[in-house]
Amino acid sequence: MVNQSGRLWQKRGTFVMAAAASAIGLGNIWRFPHELGTNGGSAFLFIYLACIALVCLPVMLAEALIGRVGGKGPVQSFSVISRLQGKSFITSSFWPLIGLMGALTGFMIASFYSVVGGWTLAYLLDAIVQGSTTTSEGSQVYFSKLESRVGFEILMMLLFIGLTAAIVYQGVVKGLERFLRILTPAILIMLVVLMLYSFSVGSPSQGLAYMFSPDFSKLSWGIVLKAMGHAFFSLSLGMGVLITFGSYTPKDQNLGQMILLVGVLDTLVALLAAAVIFPLVFAFDNLQVNAGPSLVFVALPQIFSVISWGGVFQIVFFALLLVAALSSMVSIVEPAISALENYFGWKRAQASHVIFGLVSALGIGCALDSAVFNTMDFVSANVLLPLGGILIALYVGWVLKPELYTDQVGLPTGLLRRIWMAMVCVVSPACIGWVLYNGLFNS
Ligand code: PHE
Repeated sequence: MVNQSGRLWQKRGTFVMAAAASAIGLGNIWRFPHELGTNGGSAFLFIYLACIALVCLPVMLAEALIGRVGGKGPVQSFSVISRLQGKSFITSSFWPLIGLMGALTGFMIASFYSVVGGWTLAYLLDAIVQGSTTTSEGSQVYFSKLESRVGFEILMMLLFIGLTAAIVYQGVVKGLERFLRILTPAILIMLVVLMLYSFSVGSPSQGLAYMFSPDFSKLSWGIVLKAMGHAFFSLSLGMGVLITFGSYTPKDQNLGQMILLVGVLDTLVALLAAAVIFPLVFAFDNLQVNAGPSLVFVALPQIFSVISWGGVFQIVFFALLLVAALSSMVSIVEPAISALENYFGWKRAQASHVIFGLVSALGIGCALDSAVFNTMDFVSANVLLPLGGILIALYVGWVLKPELYTDQVGLPTGLLRRIWMAMVCVVSPACIGWVLYNGLFNS
């Protein structure tokens, strides 16, 4: 059985594993804890959870459906659907731009993502070579040295991109399916081991209180925008990853349930990662919870260097981060690769060369200038992904004809379907639009 692009996952459940492997990444283990730390802890967490449940899950289902019905990459799926529905102005000319915007967003994310992937690789190699790294102030020094030794930083980044390419070149089934299926269970196991360790040497009560006791005094539109942007980023939503993975999924598998499972797994991993990091950070009170992007790269190694078995756990932690980063990076470039294959009829290797060449160039820009890094991060996650989400929801709610997908939504009851429809037609786009507007102009 093949879809229109000639590829389908071979095993049951690969959609869940692949979408979860894409979702679970630096976003959960590096970005979530530091966003939580700089944006008021529990206030950010509760808004984030609300965004996932009320806005993101309905849009996720919509996005995967587009791929299932269109059966192609993020640009061509829209064209296929227009052909199936009969052309009209609004169906045929505008909507493929969503896919194009998604592929561009993917470039922006891939560029700063590969810089952080490179840091992860550097820390892992350092931990393996040196045992427990650096003394207490050493990790700060190591991090600034890493950032100032730009040549080394770029080398690590290129190595990370090379590792991604090695998987992507092998194709959808031999590369992506084989690799992504084993990663999520591996990540979960490593995280649980790390959490038990962190609880035993750190201060779980303080860490968990910081995460869960509600303090809404810090709330602002800016924080709501960040929480929503992060929810989109963490679920790999709004840029065509799910369209692409949906197109690789056989039609007899229940999308609704699978999407829910992906959302639950992604949230669980983010919470576990925070539950590893904050008890440690609070136990060593000289460390700041609001350290920002360096939280994982400075605070944690400092702690690992002074606690027993720290060297071993440092290796486990950075191996976990690397695996999570790689599995997401593979999916960040997939929409663009699939679009090039479909559009120009290119071979996978050819499309991959072009994409990885461009990502390396943009990545070097991010490594050289932190302003470029921060802009790529903010614009892609907080603006373009939510914008993609609005358009995807409106498309499925108002343009896509229900008879093309009713047997595939996978929501068991009529009531659930009506709620989902109301969400994608009105509630989700309105909420995203409102948060975007206020977050950008009123904060
Ligand atoms: N979800 C990934 C993470 O949490 C990042 C990502 C964003 C992957 C967008 C694909 C698309 O790290």
